[in-house]
Amino acid sequence: MSNNPGFWGWLNERLPVSNFLKASVTEYYAPKNFNFWYFFGSLALLVLVLQIISGIFLLVHYYSDANQAFDSVQGIMFDVKWGWLVRYIHTTGASLFFVVIYLHISRGYLYGSYRKPRELLWIFGWIIYIILMAEAYFGYVLPFGNMSYWGGEVITAIIGAIPWVGDWLVSIVRGGPGLGGATLTRFMAWHVAFIPLLLIGVIVFHLVALHQVGSNNPDGIEISKNLDANGRPVDGIPFHPYYTVKDIFGVGVFLTLFAVIVLFAPTFWGLIMEYNNYLPANPLQTPADVTPAWYLSPYYAVLRAIPGKGFGIVMLGASIMLPFFLPWLDRCPAKSVRYRPVYFGMLILLAISVVVLGWIGLQPANPALLPPARIALGVYFGFFILLPVISRFEPIRPVPDRVRM
Ligand code: HEM
Repeated sequence: MSNNPGFWGWLNERLPVSNFLKASVTEYYAPKNFNFWYFFGSLALLVLVLQIISGIFLLVHYYSDANQAFDSVQGIMFDVKWGWLVRYIHTTGASLFFVVIYLHISRGYLYGSYRKPRELLWIFGWIIYIILMAEAYFGYVLPFGNMSYWGGEVITAIIGAIPWVGDWLVSIVRGGPGLGGATLTRFMAWHVAFIPLLLIGVIVFHLVALHQVGSNNPDGIEISKNLDANGRPVDGIPFHPYYTVKDIFGVGVFLTLFAVIVLFAPTFWGLIMEYNNYLPANPLQTPADVTPAWYLSPYYAVLRAIPGKGFGIVMLGASIMLPFFLPWLDRCPAKSVRYRPVYFGMLILLAISVVVLGWIGLQPANPALLPPARIALGVYFGFFILLPVISRFEPIRPVPDRVRM
């Protein structure tokens, strides 16, 4: 019989709820010095939940038939009660997901969170990012507007450049020679079931790995494992209540911003929803400029900057995969940018190169933009090629007493 009466005691005898909460929040010790960059992991979880809930509501009224998909989405916008709100939450959520993820990744670069012992945590994160791009792409095609159609056409055609099996693969992905109902049904299956399941699975590994090694912090110096008289780590504070309160503040600010965009600027001047997608898919009319969503545009710029489709695809793959190897490319004894002035300069150049590529990727094809695109691409690759050498010899600022207590 239980010594611990009541529902809580009954439950805990059957399910380790208390132990789980202790291990993951009330007795999970985190460094004291988290700053605003540490909001974005929990915000990513929040957006994931919002996307799943709004997606399920959209699915109720969506038809994956080539002749009905576009009209069903218009029906959601104009006929279904609150349908416009659910759709705008989903489209805004998709873009803000990437804003949050790019900030979350930037924090990793800034504080060297990818370094030992967090290599696997980083790798799971990078796999999540790749899965997320696929998820966004398949979702983008579903409303079957003219941009969905041509975006779907251009990106699936890229697969055709793979030697020998390319054409066969394209027809597998499209479900036929061109984009149509068979494409929509398989894209829906991937967008709604396969990829979200995969995503959730890898996120679980991401979080388990995080709890195994503990969080890094803005100084990039591991917190002491020494315990105080009460058996608590001397440098750590329990995640709950200290960081749950902080995270709730972040959630409040984020949801306010989210609501402002959804209610006042849902298309965000064509960045969140493109004008051409308010027209139905038309295989006979290519939009004047087929450009991807902003969060994929740097990669599109890479593809256009390289002459030759095959080589372009190799460089595209390399630009996506290079950060995967960061834990082994960076060899500096210090992790955080706070103590690495040269690395700080390199990070700024890297950020500028990504923004320039992203902007160019959103412009109509224009030969005048080739030189800046190639320079930006050179800077991007230069970062990863030079890092192993520079990080060995770069100067390191002394750690202040504040940190070495
Ligand atoms: C749906 C996507 C993701 C979710 C839900 C997620 C969730 C989280 C959470 C809750 C944390 C702990 C809180 C925090 O440190 O902010 C975290 C930490 C971390 N994440 Fe993610 N993450 C995602 C994607 C990524 C990606 C794409 C990367 C990078 C490639 C990444 C790399 C990291 C790293 C390195 C840490 C530890 C940071 C540190 O301790 O300084 N995550 N993640």
